[in-house]
Amino acid sequence: MLKITDTLQLQTPLILAPMSGITNGAFRSLIFRENKIVNSPINVSNSQTNNFLTNVDPTSEIENAVGLMVTEFVSVEALIRNNQRCLQMLKFLPTEKPIAIQIFGYEINHMVQAAKMVEEFGADLLDINCGCPVPKVVRRGGGAELMRQPGHLRKMLSAIKKEIKIPIGVKIRSGWDEAHKNAIEIAKLVEAEGASMLTIHARTKVQGYSGKVDYNIVEEICKSISIPTIGSGDICDIEDAKFYLGLGVRGLMIGRASLKNPWVFKDIFNALCGAVEQESRSYQEIVRILRDYNFLLQNDLPEKAILGRLKQLVAQITKGQVGGTKLRAALCQAKTTEQFFELLC
Ligand SMILES: Cc1cc2nc3c(=O)[nH]c(=O)nc-3n(C[C@H](O)[C@H](O)[C@H](O)COP(=O)(O)O)c2cc1C
Repeated sequence: MLKITDTLQLQTPLILAPMSGITNGAFRSLIFRENKIVNSPINVSNSQTNNFLTNVDPTSEIENAVGLMVTEFVSVEALIRNNQRCLQMLKFLPTEKPIAIQIFGYEINHMVQAAKMVEEFGADLLDINCGCPVPKVVRRGGGAELMRQPGHLRKMLSAIKKEIKIPIGVKIRSGWDEAHKNAIEIAKLVEAEGASMLTIHARTKVQGYSGKVDYNIVEEICKSISIPTIGSGDICDIEDAKFYLGLGVRGLMIGRASLKNPWVFKDIFNALCGAVEQESRSYQEIVRILRDYNFLLQNDLPEKAILGRLKQLVAQITKGQVGGTKLRAALCQAKTTEQFFELLC
């Protein structure tokens, strides 16, 4: 179990990362379904995993390997104007709890207004994006730009904290660039302003999503604050998970690896609990998951967009499969979802 606050405790410390254009309701439902735990395999005597097991209550029945899901980020400017697309993005199923809604923006009054809306929507945690490197977000003062304005961030967090009761999380990067790595200072500020969780993706804004993660910064943050630190960046398997836990993080956030292996949470959870063998998945399993995803997407998106999402998933999930390259090339040519599934089977 990972305790965020007295009122929010995660069954496992494994968190689905917010990913714009990926982690919509359909994707979250898919991940939730695929990572159900049938028989909780907790093995308390496994010495290798003690670090993890201190966070798990061995008497509790764990139902899902995913402890928390975070929505794609939503713009506070769109949210407070009641933009329909934005409101749609915030919808979640009652089964998806606990859930965090992530917002991005700059203007303090608007952030406060949006935070109240997030609370009214029933989110368990409000997450504030201080890490997005995308120019159109940063230019307007949001995302990683907030790390360059600690004074403004402090006022923003303080104002939000006064207005909502749900816990606040903040997701940061290591800094703007190599010469300006201020994640430790920001992490302390975030804790001082009453946030309950800090997620660190220890690449700079300039690095984007490539290059080395700065693990020293992750370790330093864990030593510097007492609210739970969640590690994010290149966590793909049990080895990565153990490595991050060794740095002192209390939770693990997994993003891109969930496209390549939608069962990654269950795999890591089982392995951390001492399971020796990894489940292997057949081609039929991959076809099944793509069919399920197609079905789930029908509620959210039009046909063309669904086809795009299916191609996005198949491009990752078939990596390492025999004949995967040929299959991916063929599927990318599909013009409709019908054609896509004809080619797949
Ligand atoms: C396509 C894509 C979209 C992302 N969107 C968001 C977002 O909306 N909010 C956010 O905080 N991080 C976002 N991220 C960053 C991820 O949450 C995560 O921190 C990063 O990808 C590193 O983790 P990973 O190696 O497990 O993917 C995004 C990443 C990707 C690849």
